[in-house]
Amino acid sequence: MNFEPETYMTTDDSSGLIIVAVDGYSSSGKSTMAKALARNVGYRYIDSGAMYRAVTLYALRNNMISSDRSVDTTRVAADLDQIRIDFILTSDGQHTTLNGEDVEKEIRSMHVSNHVSPIAAIPAVRHALVARQQQFGREKGIVMDGRDIGTTVFPDAELKIFVNASAETRAQRRFQELMAKGAEVNYEEVLANVVHRDHIDETREESPLRKADDAIVLDNSCMTEDEQNRWMLDRFNETISRRG
Ligand code: DC
Repeated sequence: MNFEPETYMTTDDSSGLIIVAVDGYSSSGKSTMAKALARNVGYRYIDSGAMYRAVTLYALRNNMISSDRSVDTTRVAADLDQIRIDFILTSDGQHTTLNGEDVEKEIRSMHVSNHVSPIAAIPAVRHALVARQQQFGREKGIVMDGRDIGTTVFPDAELKIFVNASAETRAQRRFQELMAKGAEVNYEEVLANVVHRDHIDETREESPLRKADDAIVLDNSCMTEDEQNRWMLDRFNETISRRG
């Protein structure tokens, strides 16, 4: 969805820029909304989940995860200062790079998805990535999505959104996405995976998924993509006007 330029407010004064933190459950549609907001207001979008995925790919390539899925956390932690993650703009959108290599496609594979949770639970990984995420936000003018953006990465973000939808709705969306990609899956399996991932995200010791006290909650179970984008833009404009 595209908005006309006059439907949003920005300011030439860089001190008027804000940080927008978008957290929520997997497959809640938060990335789609965060991306659309960034595009509509001319902010930079950062997908923090992609960063955890890139570290997972690095660990897989360097044999730090064994076939029983156990992770050599000491080796992962020791290599963290050699892992450089960035985002580049390509003709088909933003891509994640790992030490200069475009890994956007690989980090979305099922192989990486199946191994990312234990990597995202390693405290040293979280500390390194949170520091990198904070660097991205230094100049403000950023929309970042993830699980701990409003609580840990940017606890002072000017606008925090927490997105949710029922597990069934999210599983249905994920199921449609996978079917569209030609994957052979059944809905029950996808629902079980969604419920399992929610559990891991919520019960992880280090930065569990939790709504920040000052976050605005959006349950988008019954909203179209356009309605969600409009809702986000309204919250953004309210925040900018309040700051005067
Ligand atoms: O949003 P996603 O599915 O691409 O996230 C990939 C993994 O990274 C998932 O296991 C949740 C985790 N993650 C996290 O722990 N903290 C974040 N800020 C973003 C993602």
